Amino acid sequence: MKKNFLSLFALFCGLNVSAQNTAELGSQSDGRIISKHIYGHFAEHLGRCIYDGFYVGENNTKIPNIEGVRKDVVEALKKLKVPNLRWPGGCFADTYHWKDGIGPKANRPTIVNTWWGGVTENNSFGTHDFLNMCELLGAEPYLAGNLATGTVQELADWVQYVNFGGESPMSKLRQQNGRKEPWKVKFWGVGNEAWGCGGNMKPEYYSNEYRKYSTFMTNWDNNNKIFRIASGANSSDYNWTEVLMKNISQNLVEGVALHHYSVIEWSKKGPATNFSDEQYFKTMKSAYFMEELVNKHIEIMDKYDSKKKVALVVDEWGGWYDVEPGTNPGFLYQQNTIRDAMIAGLTLNIFNNHSDRIRMANLAQAINVLQSVILTKEEKMLLTPTYHVLEMYNVHQDAEWLPFTIKSNDFVFGGDKLPAVSGSASKDKSGATHISLTNIDAKAAQDVVINIGSAKFKSVSGRILTSEKLGDYNSFESPDKIKPTAFKGASVKGGELKVKLPAHSVVVLELK
Ligand code: AHR
Repeated sequence: MKKNFLSLFALFCGLNVSAQNTAELGSQSDGRIISKHIYGHFAEHLGRCIYDGFYVGENNTKIPNIEGVRKDVVEALKKLKVPNLRWPGGCFADTYHWKDGIGPKANRPTIVNTWWGGVTENNSFGTHDFLNMCELLGAEPYLAGNLATGTVQELADWVQYVNFGGESPMSKLRQQNGRKEPWKVKFWGVGNEAWGCGGNMKPEYYSNEYRKYSTFMTNWDNNNKIFRIASGANSSDYNWTEVLMKNISQNLVEGVALHHYSVIEWSKKGPATNFSDEQYFKTMKSAYFMEELVNKHIEIMDKYDSKKKVALVVDEWGGWYDVEPGTNPGFLYQQNTIRDAMIAGLTLNIFNNHSDRIRMANLAQAINVLQSVILTKEEKMLLTPTYHVLEMYNVHQDAEWLPFTIKSNDFVFGGDKLPAVSGSASKDKSGATHISLTNIDAKAAQDVVINIGSAKFKSVSGRILTSEKLGDYNSFESPDKIKPTAFKGASVKGGELKVKLPAHSVVVLELK
């Protein structure tokens, strides 16, 4: 009642401030850790992600590089603490034959990338290039195996090639190609989007194929147990998860994937910048749908795996819009605005809060494709608003999850509404508590009063990411327009933490 009165009063006075939101920070966690792998990325042979994005070639004299990999990109991604990187696709993975990408570059065959723009792929970036790059980044590689057009033998050989330290045909071949020690790759995808570009299979058929392929993916090193990930459902295809969980024995699978993009309508995606208020709301609605999706997929997984042994791996997520005007439609190049920062903030809060089951995720995609963290233009590079959100949120990586519940005001548009504020919390190894909050409300600031119970914090500090307009972005002319700044809108007193979140903002607080 009081809340409604205040809202009406604010409305009457023309104030863009909503009644207060309330939240509870629990001190008693269930001991679970938010896996750093929730903060994973994805690099496909698609458009300018690999070529131009990560890799510019060893002979490039204009762009500083380490064995062909851009130095500026390596530095930026190291700061982001990228925990894992998925490669080589995507749809491309089920057309990729890894032996095309090893050995002297001049001898590698050229192929046509039939999924993405029909361009010629010269295979100059292959297995060694990718795995060595992951070492440079300090990221764990996540290799997506070809199930649809490959063979069981081919995938089994790839595992042997990169993981076996003893003497075998594949380890010999690796050594001939210049790498003595195995890379010890843990994460392996077994096909991608098997319901679509990965073969248009039925879940029953794919489960059988999966069982066969995964059986021959040998653990070549007992100190590095491989983690096999089954190609998961397309968004709300709950039957897919049900059939996989029923048909695949748990000794054959460590993770089941899920893909969901924040898209308005596949036939009418709308522009990445200069979007309307309605398009903004619809994108937020699609992003928030992740909460319902993971709850329902998890409910199914719980039925077959009550101990939560099998992880839910959201290995493709992010905003998907029309390509930038004038760019190749097959390259999926889009700009990145404060709207994308909102998607990132609210989605990562959802993942953190479901981290007992969601133990890995991959934002699509790292550079120059879809919701990227980096965009490049020849020798120039910029960090997107999404980069900054991931960097701010990386305090949650491998931290102890803390319960955080919020009673949010509504962000209303037309006849529809969404919760304006979302949040998640964790405690790191040094004992510092972090709370991340995202206010997606396009126009209204949100006051949040957080009950911290008996917790005693001496100080609160924070950082904020926002900009005047929702459609603002970093351009090559103005690459630092949007970046995190110090946040002064929080105070702690007694058992309460008060926070004032500006409209469309992401805030991460540190409490000590
Ligand atoms: O990320 C772009 C594409 O989206 C991926 O290749 C595919 O898996 C998905 O459909």
